[in-house]
Amino acid sequence: MRKFIVGNWKMNGTSADLGEMAEISAVARLHNSVDSALCIPATLIERAVAAVGAFPIGGQDCHMQNSGAHTGCVSAEMLSDAGAVLTIIGHSERRAAQHEQDSDIRAKAQAAKAAGLKAILCVGETLDEREAGMALEIVLGQVAHSLPDNAAGAWLSVAYEPVWAIGTGRVAEPADVADMHAAIRAALVGRFGAEGQKIRILYGGSMNGDNAAVLLAVPNVDGGLIGGASLTAAKFQPILAAAQASGE
Ligand code: 13P
Repeated sequence: MRKFIVGNWKMNGTSADLGEMAEISAVARLHNSVDSALCIPATLIERAVAAVGAFPIGGQDCHMQNSGAHTGCVSAEMLSDAGAVLTIIGHSERRAAQHEQDSDIRAKAQAAKAAGLKAILCVGETLDEREAGMALEIVLGQVAHSLPDNAAGAWLSVAYEPVWAIGTGRVAEPADVADMHAAIRAALVGRFGAEGQKIRILYGGSMNGDNAAVLLAVPNVDGGLIGGASLTAAKFQPILAAAQASGE
């Protein structure tokens, strides 16, 4: 399976950063055995698409409906209309701050698919949940309840992002990542059969140029979802290089 390396810019970026996005797309083109993309603020999608050529640009969320009285929300159809080809769904920052539930995320995934977008659906436990020995149960529950029944196939990726590893510099141990990714794979195959093998499982949480090679070598780690280290071409490039090397 080709590795998938996705940058999540979160609430960062203005028109002054379009040049950096173009740099990132140029660097990504040099790593042609890796799939990559940037998920950026909705305000920048249309201009970014014009700035990066064929490089995939995505959003970071979408509403479950196409249109209507939902002040401040952006639909999957609107993302697609702006030129996005993918979107993140169910990020833990949205599960926590916007109180998104598995049922919301499931509906958002269906909306993304209906609009022709690829989706990266995030799951992950908090530190309290891990320390209570509940990490597997929490994450497999999220996988069971937030993936729609038509999830199988290459349009969907699952991102395992332990909440305590996001933005903290604290990376999950490779053995723990291996256990979690194997459990997610087993759940996907249990539900979708052989098609469940095609769903890429990304790791996210303080991935950077120093730890990417080790994390990407873990079985069932099919790529990475990268926050801070995706904001510049200089930081993103070593992750792309590690992904490229892991496939050789
Ligand atoms: P960091 O790479 O900054 O830890 O963020 C990870 C993340 O939340 C990506 O979605």
